[in-house]
Amino acid sequence: MTIGRVRPAVAGLASYTPGKAASQVEAEHNIDDAIKLASNENPWSPVPAVADAIAAAVAGVNRYADNNATDVRNAIGGWLGVDPAHVTVGCGSSGLLQQLFMTYVDPGDEVLFPYPSFEIYPIFSTLFDAVQVRVPLVDHAFDLDAVAAAVTDKTKLIFLATPNNPTGTSTDVRDIETLLERIPNDVIVVVDEAYREFNDPALGDPVTLQATHKNLVVTRTFSKAFGLAGLRSGYAVCDPEIVRELDKVRLAFSVSNLSQAGMLAAIEHEDAAMAKVAELLDERARCVETLANAGVEMPPTHANFIFIPTGDATTDIAIAMEKQGVVTRPFPGIGLRITIGSPSENDRWLAAFLAAR
Ligand SMILES: Cc1ncc(COP(=O)(O)O)c(C=O)c1O
Repeated sequence: MTIGRVRPAVAGLASYTPGKAASQVEAEHNIDDAIKLASNENPWSPVPAVADAIAAAVAGVNRYADNNATDVRNAIGGWLGVDPAHVTVGCGSSGLLQQLFMTYVDPGDEVLFPYPSFEIYPIFSTLFDAVQVRVPLVDHAFDLDAVAAAVTDKTKLIFLATPNNPTGTSTDVRDIETLLERIPNDVIVVVDEAYREFNDPALGDPVTLQATHKNLVVTRTFSKAFGLAGLRSGYAVCDPEIVRELDKVRLAFSVSNLSQAGMLAAIEHEDAAMAKVAELLDERARCVETLANAGVEMPPTHANFIFIPTGDATTDIAIAMEKQGVVTRPFPGIGLRITIGSPSENDRWLAAFLAAR
């Protein structure tokens, strides 16, 4: 029996499957000490000064937060060297992605993205009754010529995650600029930089393209590099006209006072977080080298995870690793995505993967 009249788009949608919790795998396989490397989280708690600022904000949660997050916008503007009128915030960058759908997508509109990419793009496309146009990756990376060729007069949004989840591959900002020059300027191009801080800086900063391309929206997050995933702290840099529209559809007060305190402190203590990012990058290099020495082939990663194209063996390998207490994110038939963890976690998953493959 169905209670109420569920929208067909929702009824037809599979429930979102977040990365399995370590406790779930412990129960399934009757083991203890499982580790979760399935959600591209930061293995480290936020730096102490940031944790303290969040704790201090707890006393104020009897009040709603500043819905405009004015201090945060000003701080992000100063931090990035952009006018704060170009900045908005969201309940995680996922919240901003949802706001983009709410703002631009009517049923039947086309939403375009390379695929495989972040699973939220197909989910929101389904929810908003959009037509998904998935442009296949080539060698695990974007084919921007094919993206440009797939644009029609029904295209409303294009999503480019760089580094891409799940493949970890990155796109040069000069190539994004070439794409922007080829497509109509009433198509919104979203560059999703959730993993920006792990990327190769030589690939450039897409925000610099906004002076000439007002249809470009750059989304970022404090979830990954700054270790604030649980706070839901995202932001976007875009034209003030787009900011105004996105702000209309954000769930009021959804960027909480704790989240705002966390973002302000994270900006202030950026150096401490970046020192931890540097450690993760060293660990990433160590993991890649270990795999390469064992003859494992994988695309170059620019994120806080490694993608191993294990093809048809993916599910079997993921289950074998789970039995050894290592939870990864399998993409059945395609490959395995494994988050870079602490050094001891990395030792464990490397050993588990090499034994399981
Ligand atoms: C490509 C990409 N974009 C956005 C997000 C969302 O991050 P958050 O909503 O925590 O800011 C993720 C999280 O996994 C992601 O992989």
